[in-house]
Amino acid sequence: MVIITKIYTRQYTIMINYNLIKPLLFKLEPETAHHLAECVLRLPKICPDPFKYFLNSHFIDDEILNQELLGCTFLNPVGLGAGFDKNATMIEGIRTLGFGFTEIGTVTPQPQDGNPKPRMFRHIEQESIQNAMGFNNEGAYKVQERIDKTFPYLTPIGINIGKNKLTHEHEAINDYIKLIRMFNNKGDYFVINISSPNTPGLRDLQNEEFISELFTKAKAITKMPIFLKIAPDMSHEDAIALTTMAVEKGADGIIATNTTIDYSLVPEPKDIGGLSGAVLQEKSFQLFEAIAKELYGKTILISVGGIDSADEAYRRIKAGASLVQILSGLVFHGPDMIMNINKGLVRLLKADGYTNITQAIGANRN
Ligand SMILES: Cc1cc2nc3c(=O)[nH]c(=O)nc-3n(C[C@H](O)[C@H](O)[C@H](O)COP(=O)(O)O)c2cc1C
Repeated sequence: MVIITKIYTRQYTIMINYNLIKPLLFKLEPETAHHLAECVLRLPKICPDPFKYFLNSHFIDDEILNQELLGCTFLNPVGLGAGFDKNATMIEGIRTLGFGFTEIGTVTPQPQDGNPKPRMFRHIEQESIQNAMGFNNEGAYKVQERIDKTFPYLTPIGINIGKNKLTHEHEAINDYIKLIRMFNNKGDYFVINISSPNTPGLRDLQNEEFISELFTKAKAITKMPIFLKIAPDMSHEDAIALTTMAVEKGADGIIATNTTIDYSLVPEPKDIGGLSGAVLQEKSFQLFEAIAKELYGKTILISVGGIDSADEAYRRIKAGASLVQILSGLVFHGPDMIMNINKGLVRLLKADGYTNITQAIGANRN
């Protein structure tokens, strides 16, 4: 990687000129580029020393960003969205990039290959990704083993769970319950993923009967907080009804949103998968805003979808998000992005006269 990175050191600040790397990276198939990134991000666990300077400059731990939530300390509110580290191979590397927390998965009970390739595409002009991965992952046993080796974690970890493709819809609940049992007390929160567009029938589980049964059973098994992650493609009314009901049934929080199947957002869409990144930004925000109007103060809200700047992260926080997540932005803006967003958040919070992020969460709801 060093061949193409222009690294310069000034007062222990290491900056990576991503504009030099990006054209080369984007010559690779998106999935190959992701594997390359994974190879690099595995390194901080194996040989931490060379990465310490990067960690020190990129992990922003300013008191103003610290908050206690879900029984743990979040040193900053910017986390990695599910789907990047499906197999828990990069936990240390992700912290090195400056993320305040990570979410591994989606993990399914059995390993599965996911959909046929190619299944990930870039819309470069639109700074967006279209993916139809289909929960490719090494399966719960392997991921659990890896998580056990990483314990204790230095940043909070969410465990995002889903059903296997071959599990019939009527059996789906058993997959989720099995995963909750297996990962109980092995992370800081669970995420129920029934909002990916890439597993046939999965989004049909976004219904009252399933959610009610799932949360009732899950809450009897685990004390770990459980979030429901929702799709951006339902009407605001339906989303409010669904999330309100989930909270009544025991959900500890809502993550909004997953990718969208609104292909009109890009000029040359593929006919599979879901869109993320810049084109999702407004759609995701509007749905988050609608839910937050109803649920802010009653549950914990995490906003994800097209966040690519401190201003956008701050908009979500003031709308009611305790935490935000990023995935696609990292692909288009590179490894300095999380540091820049956190530094920007510190600046914005101070400019508004806040002494801690918790004072800004939901500031626009009052
Ligand atoms: C390649 C890719 C794979 C993803 N895989 C998952 C997944 O396994 N589980 C999940 O809940 N979300 C998954 N997502 C959705 C992201 O977690 C996030 O909700 C979505 O991309 C919007 O955020 P962004 O615009 O910052 O990317 C995936 C997204 C991408 C781009």
